[in-house]
Amino acid sequence: MTVSDALRDRRSCRSFADRPLAPGLLAGLVDRARRTPTAGNCQGVEFLVLEGNDVATYWETTLTAERRVDFPWPGLLVAPALVVPWGVPDRYVARYAEADKARAGLGDSSDDWSVPYWLTDAAFAAMALQLLAVEEGLGCCFFGLFDHETAVAERFNVPEGARAVGTIALGHPDPTSARVSGSVGRGRRPLDEVLHRGAW
Ligand SMILES: Cc1cc2nc3c(=O)[nH]c(=O)nc-3n(C[C@H](O)[C@H](O)[C@H](O)COP(=O)(O)O)c2cc1C
Repeated sequence: MTVSDALRDRRSCRSFADRPLAPGLLAGLVDRARRTPTAGNCQGVEFLVLEGNDVATYWETTLTAERRVDFPWPGLLVAPALVVPWGVPDRYVARYAEADKARAGLGDSSDDWSVPYWLTDAAFAAMALQLLAVEEGLGCCFFGLFDHETAVAERFNVPEGARAVGTIALGHPDPTSARVSGSVGRGRRPLDEVLHRGAW
């Protein structure tokens, strides 16, 4: 499978089979996903990997019993694994305080960063993880943490200041699931609408 194949074949999977991942598979995926570029080679993205009971704990933390009743994607809760990539701002500030980066003026505070590269880098890694999942024949779905980021951080002992871009559910797709997201029908915008040659 080429990168182009993986990009073409990937669709968000929101319904998973109740089947665990092969032991060690997830660690291998994360190991490969963390090779994406990072600003100043900070490597300031860390991955909270949840399997087994930890997955249930994640959903207990983010989805109340009340909201669960009419949650539109019950098959998402069956995913055997969740990965939350976190960008760690302190690592970026410290790296940019080093001599070869000092000229950028970003070594004092994360507030000075017009683009929070810890989120950029975490998003790159999140995408790589999804493409690697496709390569493994797995389904995956990136979804938002919305206002649950702090609760998830506290529940899983994530250090203060770390920022999550979202959560990735991974597993074997449930072949019997017919439900598709309303977003799917939006189709793909034509290339000439998004490609601006020379000027917008
Ligand atoms: C930043 C971001 C946030 C997303 N949040 C959610 C979400 O909260 N729930 C969800 O079901 N899907 C979420 N998605 C998945 C998108 O809905 C999906 O990627 C989009 O509709 C295109 O469909 P496809 O992934 O099947 O190509 C998110 C995707 C991105 C990139």
